[in-house]
Amino acid sequence: MFAVYAAEPNPDDPLASLTIGERPEPEAPDGWVRVTVKAASLNMHDLWTLRGVGIKPERFPMILGCDGAGVLPDGTEVVLHSVIGDPAWSGDETLDPTRTLLTEKHQGTFADTVVVPARNALPKPPGLSFAEAACLGTAWLTAYRMIFVKSGLLPGQTMLVQGASGGVSTALIVLGRAAGLRVWVTGRTEDKRALATSLGAHQVFESGARLPEKVDGVFETVGKATWSHSMRALKPGGVIVVSGSTSGPDPSADLQRLFFLQLRVIGSTMGTREELGDLIRFCDIAGIRPTIGAELPMEQAKAGIEDMLAGETAGKIVFTR
Ligand SMILES: NC(=O)c1ccc[n+]([C@@H]2O[C@H](COP(=O)([O-])OP(=O)(O)OC[C@H]3O[C@@H](n4cnc5c(N)ncnc54)[C@H](OP(=O)(O)O)[C@@H]3O)[C@@H](O)[C@H]2O)c1
Repeated sequence: MFAVYAAEPNPDDPLASLTIGERPEPEAPDGWVRVTVKAASLNMHDLWTLRGVGIKPERFPMILGCDGAGVLPDGTEVVLHSVIGDPAWSGDETLDPTRTLLTEKHQGTFADTVVVPARNALPKPPGLSFAEAACLGTAWLTAYRMIFVKSGLLPGQTMLVQGASGGVSTALIVLGRAAGLRVWVTGRTEDKRALATSLGAHQVFESGARLPEKVDGVFETVGKATWSHSMRALKPGGVIVVSGSTSGPDPSADLQRLFFLQLRVIGSTMGTREELGDLIRFCDIAGIRPTIGAELPMEQAKAGIEDMLAGETAGKIVFTR
């Protein structure tokens, strides 16, 4: 079948590992389902996979794509949940130490067909297109959990989103606005800040800019480049929720500020199947739609990946079949 895959780990030149070609049709084990892929979105995670980060070398070649939307053999339209763990695990599956995301152990969604456990295929509401639905399983689910499960922020409080144009950042802006938070955003260029404003940000700032007042919560996926600004932006008792470190991890924890102002730093990763169900319903009933910056046929995946590598995003990059 057609597939976009990482042939081998390449830490220095991830694009050199990218291959667009044929891979064997997957077999669905007992309890798993075959999904005909209609759309899948690109995540920074796919660049880590091409580099060989977070995946064992013996698992290559690996089909990319850790979220998607498609159709079951009986015609049901579905959104995929990417977190796959021990079927015997009960409770929050993101805490299962054996859990993996699609593309870490099991083949991903940039292909004609993907197989997933039956519970990982959730019904897609008819009001969401396949391209929109394909954005929900990773970046949007991560943003949903950061705000609604982890931050403890309440409507009327102020959130700062570091980074304007990324998949997780744009989701944070749209969801935060819909939840009644005051949404402040930093962006590296005027275009990116304008995008944030168009998505509902109340105020936008250059990266690292002094803010008019301290905020209740900061939402971090950037890491080293923005971390000290995030720490300085918080009110006493404020919270940073962090789910990524695109610019690198930051060893400077600023501990004196952390304990003296009684700040909280909370890690967040993906979300549960139940949270994905709640996010899908939230989008459906509130009329929220993921921000798609580029929609390309899957055969043109290289162009989308090049844009993400260059930092040229304007929301999600989606590949369609
Ligand atoms: N833990 C999880 O479950 C989870 C899930 C999804 C993503 N992540 C992580 O979250 C991060 C973002 O993923 P994504 O898919 O949203 O990536 P993306 O679409 O490529 O977005 C990258 C974002 O990072 C910002 N950025 C990058 N370098 C920066 C720098 N030097 N200074 C300031 N801002 C910078 C960009 O801001 P501008 O708009 O200003 O350019 C943009 O908003 C990645 O590290 C990814 O691995 C984690």
